[in-house]
Amino acid sequence: MDFPMFHLDWLNDRFLIAVIAIIHVMINHGLAVGFIPYITWLEYKGVKNAPADQITDTKWDELIYNKMKVAFIITTTIGAMTGVGIWFSVALVSPSSIGSLIRVFYWAWFTEWIVFVTEVVLIMIYYLTWKNSNKSLNAKLKHIRFGAFLSLASWITMVIIVSILGFMMDPGNWNTDKSLLNGFTNPIYIPQLAFRTPVAMLVGGVFGMLLTTIFSKKESAIRILAIKYAGKWVMFWTPFAIAGAIYYWNVMPDAMKANMSTAVGSMDFEEYYDLLKYFIIGAASLSIILALWATLRPKKVNFALVVVPCLFIFGFLGIFERVREFVRKPYVIGNYMYSNLLREEDYPLYKKDGVLKHATYATVSEITPENKVLAGRDVFMITCSRCHTSNGINSIVDVFENMYGKDKPLNEQAMASYIPNMHQGRAFMPPFPGNKKELEALVAYIKQLQSSGESLQGAQTEGVIINPINAVDEVAKRIEADLAQKEQEDDNN
Ligand code: HEC
Repeated sequence: MDFPMFHLDWLNDRFLIAVIAIIHVMINHGLAVGFIPYITWLEYKGVKNAPADQITDTKWDELIYNKMKVAFIITTTIGAMTGVGIWFSVALVSPSSIGSLIRVFYWAWFTEWIVFVTEVVLIMIYYLTWKNSNKSLNAKLKHIRFGAFLSLASWITMVIIVSILGFMMDPGNWNTDKSLLNGFTNPIYIPQLAFRTPVAMLVGGVFGMLLTTIFSKKESAIRILAIKYAGKWVMFWTPFAIAGAIYYWNVMPDAMKANMSTAVGSMDFEEYYDLLKYFIIGAASLSIILALWATLRPKKVNFALVVVPCLFIFGFLGIFERVREFVRKPYVIGNYMYSNLLREEDYPLYKKDGVLKHATYATVSEITPENKVLAGRDVFMITCSRCHTSNGINSIVDVFENMYGKDKPLNEQAMASYIPNMHQGRAFMPPFPGNKKELEALVAYIKQLQSSGESLQGAQTEGVIINPINAVDEVAKRIEADLAQKEQEDDNN
């Protein structure tokens, strides 16, 4: 409420972040953090398995180089762009939470940025100097060492960012003593890192296997060996991924586990949660079967066989990210800031005064019968719009119609008695912060939405409207009046 509200009504604001972030994570884990060490290892194998009079096995080296080319192109284009895209989208949708995170983690972000820039530069150097390094053994070994360095840099970007992700889920001690160290060492950090690292390696290996089937000739000796290595790589990381998953699951607070069923399939599919859960676990396990097959029967592995497990494992990453984003609800930063961007500790004030009084940007500050619907629109924007739209994905009209029936007009009374308790039945929603008048305005607006079908516009289309009572002139007047009153009191004394 301290920022003009950006709002994407058709797509839903959360969805915008999710789409960009999920693509980014897939590229970051599958094509950088997990892929680069795999490539470096294979480059080294080329030197190790080379005929005595050669620096490396040229054909093998060509295959590995081609695989790296794909990672190079994708990470430095879509990967880097979606990285910036995350910043852009969260700054639009969730400015208060990203603002808090930047302040708490200032030095961590700063370091992250330096390491990230280093990573991109190293990727460029690693790829662009590959061919030249084949001229002498010394140069080749240096190049491989360089790859190891790059792998480390990629992993460090993950080491830093995962702390911030863990923090958003459960800040731990930070809520009582707000230091960077307390924030950084939050309870979910290490378990999540212990899970993400081997998963990234696993995804990198499966993707590498897929690329092998594209860049090598069927049944060639090189292909068989490369498939076998990819299988071994995946098999090696699998136990770590399983152990990481168990470790991670065990530190998740119960409130988060309770959100799992909605997180995995949304409320419509909640009853299929068990089925979905097994499907997801099964889909991820397909990679392990593939890896086993690749180690034992590498000859039989072709593109058609790898593509499905590969899509599944990337799909698994996507679902994992969505679930992680969802389970921390109703908070965006655990026990500190709700997903509607209001801080928990400010709630008593809002309940007393209403949210409109404290909003910097709103059309209405004093609710009257004439401006009720307009005021309701402001209340909706402040309290519901980060998760609901007016007529797009997860529309507020739809969720109420699902409860009360599609074909009849919504009942204001029923909605007004539901909303103040909505966080009890549906713990993923924050409590309604407003006062009684605002509640009435909100339901009047929702009812009006049902009949008009209109679409809510954000500040990017409507422009910025400053709350009349919080405009500079008004505030100045109030301060002057306060001073005058104080002087009067002093005189009287
Ligand atoms: C943190 C995000 C978030 C906020 C903020 C939020 N909701 Fe929700 N709400 C959800 C989600 C997610 C669902 C479930 C959608 C699904 O899975 O179908 C939901 C469902 C609902 C439902 C249907 C519940 C049921 O039992 O069927 C109602 C009604 C609702 N929201 C009203 C509101 C109102 C009114 C506001 C604002 C005062 C609000 N929500 C704010 C996320 C949110």
